[in-house]
Amino acid sequence: MAKHFLITAGPTHEPLDPVRYLTNRSSGKMGYALAGAAAHEGHRVTLISGPCDLEVPEGVDYLPVETAAEMYEAVSRYIGKAQIAIFAAAVADYRPVNVPEQKIKKTGNTLTLELVKNPDILGSAREVFGYKGTLIGFAAETENVEDNARGKLQRKGCDFVVANDVSRQDIGFNASENEVSLVYANHTEALPKDDKYQLSLEIIKKSLEV
Ligand code: C5P
Repeated sequence: MAKHFLITAGPTHEPLDPVRYLTNRSSGKMGYALAGAAAHEGHRVTLISGPCDLEVPEGVDYLPVETAAEMYEAVSRYIGKAQIAIFAAAVADYRPVNVPEQKIKKTGNTLTLELVKNPDILGSAREVFGYKGTLIGFAAETENVEDNARGKLQRKGCDFVVANDVSRQDIGFNASENEVSLVYANHTEALPKDDKYQLSLEIIKKSLEV
């Protein structure tokens, strides 16, 4: 039966001034592949995406945002309609406290930025938004991949976490292929290395089995 998916994708941009921003290394490819795969399988998809240079997959409801705060707001509005939520966005953990209206000038030799924590969108799904559906997070780790992913699963109330080792050059960031493990509360399932679209079809299938 067709389900409604909510998928977050891409990085967020956190403005420093009118011409600069802080961001994360994320192409958005994994989230867009998931959205395309879910739509291809006949599901309804709401894609909430930070700034990406990618074509929006056909048949997907697309909601572009820029900052983590905007992504939080969009997710809070739409998550109630979804049965399956997949958080593949690389959200900036912090944003500048003050954003001047004018460009910051090159005056001193050093420049100190004061940052404040952004809301944890995935971490708010259960506790703040009261979401009861299937919840899937991503964990990009450089060490102790499985343990860190399982910690996230428990803290954020996920059904499973898609974990990948971003210290490897051949997969992950901006690559078209990825090799991930699905980390559940009591077991882990390693998926073979594949292109992001084939992996997405598998992740969509697994999300329907939860
Ligand atoms: O804790 P960490 O940020 O590594 O968790 C990664 C997971 O949490 C990803 O699924 C990411 O999309 C989500 N996340 C989020 N909001 C944040 C930070 C991360 O939804 N502010």
